[in-house]
Amino acid sequence: MAAVAAQVVSAERIPIGADHAGYELKETLKAALIGLGYDVEDVGTHSPASVDYADFAHPVAREVETGQARRGVLLCGTGLGMAYAANRHPHVRAAVAWTSEIAGLARSHNDANVLVLPARFVTAADAVTILKTWLDTPFEGGRHERRVEKIERKEEQ
Ligand code: RB5
Repeated sequence: MAAVAAQVVSAERIPIGADHAGYELKETLKAALIGLGYDVEDVGTHSPASVDYADFAHPVAREVETGQARRGVLLCGTGLGMAYAANRHPHVRAAVAWTSEIAGLARSHNDANVLVLPARFVTAADAVTILKTWLDTPFEGGRHERRVEKIERKEEQ
């Protein structure tokens, strides 16, 4: 009788963080990610009480910077503060996406490894669609590979 080898494939862990403005939408996206089979690490915030976005951007970005996570998700009111903070980390390419098309291009052209959602400017349904597009769109490589590599080489320009 042929032995059946059990193949254990562990789910990708995705860290997610938000400030108070993104808290409610974070809960929606967390549920969507879990439903899609991802292992979600929620770094907070855990209530709608006022907090500072950088306190949540840095833990998520640090995981991507160090390779502990391949990609992460952040939310704040405009998406801007989270993106500013996350993009201070080497190897992190945090993209604010408010449409599915931008999310797709952020992946295919810019290899964005952190998705940032402007929670005050997208509906929950649109945010889930944006998230799915970002998760499922591969990086195109080619000429975009060269361009993305230059992002980290600011001293050579
Ligand atoms: C909070 O009011 C708001 O400033 C913050 O969520 C974000 O939009 C900052 O970039």
